[in-house]
Amino acid sequence: MTEQIVKDALSKVTYPGFSKDIVAFGFVKNITIDGTKVSVDVEVTSSAPEVAEQIKEEAITELKMAGASEATIKINAPVIPREGSSKGKNIAPHVKNFLMISSGKGGVGKSTTAVNIAISLAKQGLKVGLLDADIYGPNIPRMMGLEGVKPQIEGQKVIPLQAYGVEMMSMGSLMDDGAALIWRGAMIMKAIEQFLRDILWSELDCLVIDMPPGTGDAQLSLAQAVPVTAGITVTTPQKVSLDDSRRSLDMFKKLDIPIAGIVENMSGFIAPDTGVEYDIFGKGTTQPMADEFNTKIIAQIPIEPSIRTGGDEGKPIVFAQPDSESAKRFMIAAETIWAKIEEINAAGGVDNASVQPNTPPGVSACSTGGAAAAAPKAPEPSGESCGTGCGCH
Ligand SMILES: Nc1ncnc2c1ncn2[C@@H]1O[C@H](COP(=O)(O)OP(=O)(O)O)[C@@H](O)[C@H]1O
Ligand SMILES: [Mg+2]
Repeated sequence: MTEQIVKDALSKVTYPGFSKDIVAFGFVKNITIDGTKVSVDVEVTSSAPEVAEQIKEEAITELKMAGASEATIKINAPVIPREGSSKGKNIAPHVKNFLMISSGKGGVGKSTTAVNIAISLAKQGLKVGLLDADIYGPNIPRMMGLEGVKPQIEGQKVIPLQAYGVEMMSMGSLMDDGAALIWRGAMIMKAIEQFLRDILWSELDCLVIDMPPGTGDAQLSLAQAVPVTAGITVTTPQKVSLDDSRRSLDMFKKLDIPIAGIVENMSGFIAPDTGVEYDIFGKGTTQPMADEFNTKIIAQIPIEPSIRTGGDEGKPIVFAQPDSESAKRFMIAAETIWAKIEEINAAGGVDNASVQPNTPPGVSACSTGGAAAAAPKAPEPSGESCGTGCGCH
C-alpha cells in the first residue's frame, strides 16, 4: 500500500449529501501505512453520528477493495455541548438548536429560504425539523409537497410529516383547507407552545422555524418558549424592503437572539437561456445594513423561475436541481449557518432569561402591556413600544 493508493481509494467516498469526496474536502488528515494495514484520521464538520458512521463504513470498504488487509478509520467530529443552547426556558428540550427565519414583510422569500435551508442542513447529515409558524399564511406544506397530507395522531400528540429528509409541521396541515382564523395574542402564544410541546419531534439537531412576517406576538412567544440559537432575516434588495428588514434585525437584538446572517433574495435575475445575470431590484444595497448589525450576507439568491415552480410543485430547488446556482448558494448558506450555530454553542450558547414574561402563563405579555418588564435589557424607546420588538404599544 502507498499513500497514493489510500488517497485514491478514499476519494471514492463522498461526503453524505454532497457530490464532493472527503479527500477533496480536505477532511483526510493522517494516513499511517504498515504493510497492508492502513489507519486514517478523518476530520468532519458535522457532529451527526450518522455522517461519521457512513463515512467510516464506506472508507473501510474502499480501502479493502484497494488491497488493505486491515483498515482503521478514526473520525474526529466537532463536539456540540448538548446543554450549549439550553439555558433559560426550553419547552422542547429534545431539540438542540432553534433557527428563526424572519423577514420584515411577506412575499420576500422567507418560506422558500426556510424550506431550502432546512433541506440543505439535512443534506449535511443533520437531523432537521421545519416548523411553519406562519399561522397567517402557512405555505410550507405546499412547498414541501405535503399539501393535503394529514398527520397521524398518537395519544394527545401529533406525529410530524416527513419530506426530503426533514420533519415538518404546519398549521396548514392541521386546519381544513382555506379556513381563515383570526389570531389574537394569547392564541398565538398557545399555538406556538403547542407546536413545540405537542408535536412529536425527534431528537433534532436543528428546528428551522418559518415565522410570520414582521415583529409580533409570535416572535416574542417563540423567544420566550425556547432559547433561539440564531436568527436569519430574509430581504429583497429594494430600499423599501430593507426598511422593514432593519426592524426584523432590531427585533433579534432586543430578544437577545444572535444573528446568523441575512439572505438577500431576488438579488439579480439569471436568464435561464443564457445564464447571464441581470440586476433587477438593485444589488449591494443590503451590505450597509449587514454592517450596521455587525453581520453578513450569507447568500444572494437570484430570481430563478425554477425556485418559483419548485415552490408551487413541492419540489424545492436544493432537492430538485442541486446543481443550479441558487441551490448551491442555499447549500453554502446552510453551511455558514451551521458553523455559526456551532460557534454560538462553543461560546456557551444562548439564554432567554431576559425575555421571560412576568405575567401568568397563557397570557400574552404583549396583550397585557407587561412586556416592557419582560425585556429588562432592551432600551426603552420612550413610551412608543414595549421595547421587545414585539410590535405592541
Ligand atoms: N429567488 C426567487 N426566484 C423566483 N421566485 C421566488 C424566489 N424567491 C421566492 N420566490 C417565489 O416568490 C413567492 C413568495 O415567496 P415565499 O417564500 O412564499 O415568501 P414569504 O414566505 O416571504 O411570503 C413564491 O411563489 C416563491 O416561489
Ligand atoms: Mg411564507
